[in-house]
Amino acid sequence: MDKLLIRGGTPLTGEIGISGAKNAALPIICAGLLSPESLYLKNVPHLNDISTMLRLIGQMGVEVTMEGNEGLTLDSRGLNNPLAPYEMVKTMRASILVLGPLLARCGEAKVSLPGGCAIGARPVDQHIKGLQAMGAEIRVEGGYVLAKAKRLKGARILTDMVTVTGTENLMMAAVLADGETVIENAAREPEVVDLANCLSAMGARISGAGTDRIVIEGVTALHGASHSVMPDRIETGTYLCAAAATGGSVRLTNTSVAFLESVVEKLREAGCEVVSDQDAISLNAPGRLKSVGVRTSPYPAFPTDMQAQFMAINCVAEGAAVIRETIFENRFMHAVELIRLGADIKIDGNTALVTGVEHLDGATVMATDLRASASLVIAGLVAQGETLIERIYHLDRGYERIEEKLARLGAAVRRVR
Ligand code: UD1
Repeated sequence: MDKLLIRGGTPLTGEIGISGAKNAALPIICAGLLSPESLYLKNVPHLNDISTMLRLIGQMGVEVTMEGNEGLTLDSRGLNNPLAPYEMVKTMRASILVLGPLLARCGEAKVSLPGGCAIGARPVDQHIKGLQAMGAEIRVEGGYVLAKAKRLKGARILTDMVTVTGTENLMMAAVLADGETVIENAAREPEVVDLANCLSAMGARISGAGTDRIVIEGVTALHGASHSVMPDRIETGTYLCAAAATGGSVRLTNTSVAFLESVVEKLREAGCEVVSDQDAISLNAPGRLKSVGVRTSPYPAFPTDMQAQFMAINCVAEGAAVIRETIFENRFMHAVELIRLGADIKIDGNTALVTGVEHLDGATVMATDLRASASLVIAGLVAQGETLIERIYHLDRGYERIEEKLARLGAAVRRVR
């Protein structure tokens, strides 16, 4: 298994480009299941999660053609196997996103339950409840969701909590339903809006994406379209944090602060200068950051996917800060690994008190989930000496060519096979 070896202490400087957003590309690839005509996608990141999703829809009968470096065409004319087997779903929870489109297009679907994952239980009851409200017959048997519906019917759906993939799944199911669907308490994440834009380009009638009330007027068929995936706001935020923690100065292109206001505000509070122009962000960090408290919440508040990275920067900042995780029940696993590097962190339930120390010391640490891994990379970049991060397959699920991008910013980092 690959490991990442980092020699810390170099401030990150220079310019890199940000990739397309994993969390937008995944549902948008599933949207390709909704139409027999071709969907051409640009700015698709090269990530293991994307390859898994393409393999998953490939075995359903979808033809995938790579177009140049970051483009691909999905041709779902031959879609004939509405099945998502456990072996493919278990490595990536976002596979549940095929459920809504398969049901809407094929009238049936058999999708493995994703099971628990490291950061929490992550049930899919809201996805199921919403599809049932649209008239689907659903049973859960042998670890699979078995769903049937001749044609889904428009419905008013109020989700119990804000769920990102839940909103996306229901929106994709509703575009081919008979009549109007209203999703109340919908997720407002930019990735939901990007999916809605792609669906609209395919002929769907959607309004309100980006608000907590999305209205979808069902149509009988969608057509082919072309869509460019939005930039990855979490990759952007992660490199901003890495530059901030190392006292560096970077410019990130092909991205925007528009989706990152809560994160940028916290970086400014920590003492960084952040400037944006049309499709780039520049950050200049002071010698030592000030601690900043964060509380995770659905968009537009501070994202849970940036919590671990802010814990890392607080480890070496001046003062103490409280980090509150309100979305997932078990998302502090990076804390014990950061403590191995010399951090001072006290956990009490969903709250972490991080007191900044003068310096961290390199050690061997273990990545436990995608964003936890990112926090260990940031800590490794500031630690004195060498940090070896094990199990970086988590990083490869969500960060494109991470060691190459870090090296371009001057980091001493090497993949060990
Ligand atoms: C998505 C993102 C993930 C991010 C998360 C929160 C993708 C592919 N992944 O995950 O990176 O961390 O949003 O911003 O976009 N819940 C239920 N029942 C459900 C659905 C959700 O109880 O049916 C709970 C979850 O356990 C969690 C909360 O709702 O506590 C929010 O989860 P959700 O927004 O659904 O996360 P994902 O869509 O899986």
